[in-house]
Formats: sequence, structure tokens, C-alpha cells
Amino acid sequence: MGILEGKAVMITGAASGIGRATAEEAAAEGARLLLCDVDDEGGAAVAAAIGGAASYRSCDVTDEAAVEAAVAATISELGRIDGAFNCAGILGVLGNIGELPLDGWKRLIEVDLNGVFLCTKHQVNAMAEQGSGSILNMASAAGLIGWPGASGYVAAKHGVVGLSKAAALEYAPQGVRVNSICPSYTITPMVEKDLFEDALGNDEELIGAARANHPIGRFADPQEIASAAAWLLSDKASFVTGTAMAVDGGYTAP
Ligand SMILES: NC(=O)c1ccc[n+]([C@@H]2O[C@H](COP(=O)([O-])OP(=O)(O)OC[C@H]3O[C@@H](n4cnc5c(N)ncnc54)[C@H](O)[C@@H]3O)[C@@H](O)[C@H]2O)c1
Repeated sequence: MGILEGKAVMITGAASGIGRATAEEAAAEGARLLLCDVDDEGGAAVAAAIGGAASYRSCDVTDEAAVEAAVAATISELGRIDGAFNCAGILGVLGNIGELPLDGWKRLIEVDLNGVFLCTKHQVNAMAEQGSGSILNMASAAGLIGWPGASGYVAAKHGVVGLSKAAALEYAPQGVRVNSICPSYTITPMVEKDLFEDALGNDEELIGAARANHPIGRFADPQEIASAAAWLLSDKASFVTGTAMAVDGGYTAP
């Protein structure tokens, strides 16, 4: 039996990267899934590859009505909502804070923080009504420490850590666990395209310096984040709530 056998789980950002890897891991561990994204082609392809255990629904996490409808669809399609991984996010605008455009900052907060807030808000209500559930919010190592040149991202991810702790305290009495997960560099389209290619110009020296900040000596594979996410969603983590779990090869340990 898998650690998520029979569990009904909603995942946002499931078309790509860590969300996709977690969808595949959760299905392999026995979960039934409602996958959400704004990349409809990619999301539908992930659901199709998983097969009968997964379906796809278009959902922009910044749209409260769409988020509420996706939570309702999870319950109507799967009978309940045992777990939720709010993984949708963007790297967004980079640059020192003195040069950061307000619209870029607002977009980061809108997707990476407000999106997680909206998902948590509607999921926690449904789970409290059931008397059980596990919500996992995607933060980052940048939710635990500063990261020069990315203050919008850092602010959003610190916000995710904070809202998850507050929600954990609010809903523990109703049997709902709320945690956040904090990966460092993980090889996904976001990192390969938006960070390495667009921001760092594929400069081997800069990429090597980022790699060297990981005591474990390499970047993460999305599967390694997915394993931790599946565990946090499962009953194996039944005494874990309010934590911000670093899955970062030692990046934030120093
Ligand atoms: N890759 C890393 O190194 C890393 C490290 C720490 C945290 N994270 C976080 O993990 C999450 C996933 O990142 P990834 O690296 O897998 O990136 P990714 O770009 O591969 O996947 C992100 C997914 O989110 C979706 N998405 C974006 N905006 C959305 C919206 N408004 N509504 C619904 N879906 C939306 C995208 O379409 C995409 O499918 C992000 O929150 C990111 O900040 C990533």
C-alpha cells in the first residue's frame, strides 16, 4: 500500500516541475488527484500520462472564484479533499530592490503569496468541515533566508511560511495540518529557463557558484522534493504541523 492510498489530493502548478513530479509521486503512492494549472495543455498531458487516478482542471490561483470552484470540484469528483499541495508559482522579476518595478513586485505577491492564501483559505474550510486534512504550501529556501536580487520572491516566500504557521495554529483543533516546504535550486523549467538562461545568461561560473552553496554538492531533482511533499501530505506526517521543512541539500544550514 502506498502512503497516500485512497487519498483525494488537489495539486496546483501540476503541469510542470515540482508540481508535476509530486502529482506522479502521489499517484504512485495511491492518491486520486485533481490537478490544476494555467498551462492547460501541459496539465492535461500530465493527467493523461498518470491515467485514471488523475483529472485536470484549469485554475488560475490568483482568481478566488476559480480556486473555490477547484476545491469544490475536488470534493465532487473525488468525494472529499484529504490533501492539497499549493505549488503554483513564478520566479518573477529579479533585481535589487532599488530598481524593482512596482508592477513586477505586485505580480509576485499576487501569484506566489496571494495564490497560496486563496487556496489555503478554501481548502482549510473544506477540511475543517471533514475534521481532517493536510495542506502543504510551496515556499522556498528563499522563505527562510534572504536572497540578494530577488526581494519580491523572498518576501512572497517568507509570507507563505508565515501564513502556513498561522493557519496551522488556527486549524489544529479541527484536525487540519498546514505546513510549508522550502526547496533550494531544483532543476525545473523555472530554474533552467527563467534563472539560468534568462537571468544568468547560462554563465557557468555563476551557476557553479550557486551549486557550490549546496553542501551536498549538486542541485535537486524535482523527484527529491516530490518525495518530501508526498510524505508531508500523508498520515506518516501525522504529528507534523506548522513547520517549514527545508529540502535543500544543506543550503540553509550554515
Ligand atoms: N525550482 C526551484 O528551484 C524551486 C525552489 C524553491 C521553490 N520553488 C517553487 O516551486 C514552485 C514550482 O516551481 P517549479 O520550479 O516547479 O516551476 P515550473 O515553472 O516548472 O512550474 C510552475 C507551474 O506553476 C504554474 N503556474 C504559474 N502561475 C500560475 C497561476 N497563476 N495559477 C496556476 N498555475 C500557475 C505554471 O504554469 C507551471 O506549470 C514555485 O512556487 C516555485 O517558486 C521552486
